Amino acid sequence: MRVAMIGTGYVGLVSGTCFADFGHVVTCIDKDASKIDALNNGQIPIYEPGLQELVAKNVAEERLFFTTAPEEAIRKADAVFIAVGTPTRRGDGHADLSYVYAAAEEIARLIEGFTVIVTKSTVPVGTGDEVEAIIRKTNPDAEFAVVSNPEFLREGAAISDFKRPDRVVVGTDDERAVEVMRELYRPLYLNETPIIVTRRRTSELTKYAANAFLAVKITFINEIADLCEKVGANVQEVSRGIGLDNRIGGKFLHAGPGYGGSCFPKDTLALSRIAADAQSDLKIVDSVIEVNAARKKKMADKVIEFMGGDVSGKTIALLGLAFKPNTDDMREAPSIDIVEKLQAAGAKIRAYDPASMEEAEKVMSGVMFCDGPYHAIENADVVVIVTEWDQFRALDLDRVKTLVSAPKVVDLRNIYKPDYMEARGFEYTSVGRSY
Ligand code: UDX
Repeated sequence: MRVAMIGTGYVGLVSGTCFADFGHVVTCIDKDASKIDALNNGQIPIYEPGLQELVAKNVAEERLFFTTAPEEAIRKADAVFIAVGTPTRRGDGHADLSYVYAAAEEIARLIEGFTVIVTKSTVPVGTGDEVEAIIRKTNPDAEFAVVSNPEFLREGAAISDFKRPDRVVVGTDDERAVEVMRELYRPLYLNETPIIVTRRRTSELTKYAANAFLAVKITFINEIADLCEKVGANVQEVSRGIGLDNRIGGKFLHAGPGYGGSCFPKDTLALSRIAADAQSDLKIVDSVIEVNAARKKKMADKVIEFMGGDVSGKTIALLGLAFKPNTDDMREAPSIDIVEKLQAAGAKIRAYDPASMEEAEKVMSGVMFCDGPYHAIENADVVVIVTEWDQFRALDLDRVKTLVSAPKVVDLRNIYKPDYMEARGFEYTSVGRSY
């Protein structure tokens, strides 16, 4: 199959590369010439384990191409994927669809023969109908079908998520389009991955519902964690105790500083707006948005409280800044709110993150970015673990003690055990664990 992928952001680049690795011929298209130049020179604009190698392999084997000129690739394509950004629209919280619609117009002018147009970007319910209307209006003779095929991959695990997904959702009632989609995903099909074929609107809503549900799970356990602290319980044990029930499931039940990233915050907000427009209550999701936003700030209060109510003039070392490990993504990262609030309370911040410091510099000011974890904690009055990178899980605690000004640790990801830390001479607090 020949694939054109419009947009070389996270989803576009990963899906395009993985489709090429499945054996299809893929052309990734982006208007940003510097990005395309970089990709053609083997430079990957994002941090994602394994992606660089996979791009290089498929480029070398001539199945993967990058260009700013869409004409030929779209003309020859069996399937054209729209994987452009759908950021939050300023002012009203709806998803901004201008990039999706611009891509639809461009595609309409260029397609030849029956072409499947696939929205991979996360888009509000009804966007497929609008894309179809745009294409029909721009090119009334075009032969095409518009399919919704949401992407569920996680940053940091993107390649394995794409290649071994729990399911593939395909939204269309066009039989020819279903055949093209089955062919594109054939390697998965052979692995017996379920392919759910449904109506386009159902598929569009499925993506938002999936992300909102996961956000609910995290927020639920975060609130249970707060309760654990008050009543003398341990949230990790509660989590295990409920998660082993198959109806609940143990994943996404880790308490922490609140979820961040590009998807959960953006998609829960967009879903809430979709529901409001449809005059349908979605109170659970609305509460999740509110609770999570408040939680990130509350994490700074936790540090302040741990320091006896005053951090002015204190040096605070943050380990981890990205919204989660294995990414350089700083979007909606809890560290942003934590830093702002601690600085406002008069603290000096030193920080280290293995991948995201360049991104962090764009969204934080007045922070001393350090060369490594041990550099960051030098003379710190307290060490705060914000992101659970593996390299923070086994710090040399004796060395830590000699470097800090006081052996105090706030572990917002529960990567150490309270009794172990106390035995090593640390004053220690974490999330939702009274013991
Ligand atoms: C998410 C979805 O998982 C993915 O299916 C969708 O396509 C895009 O959005 P991503 O944002 O890359 O993926 O990260 P994910 O691993 O889901 O983590 C999101 C946030 O939730 C992070 O801030 C993480 O720290 C937090 N989280 C996750 C928790 O606090 N506890 C958990 O148990 C799991």
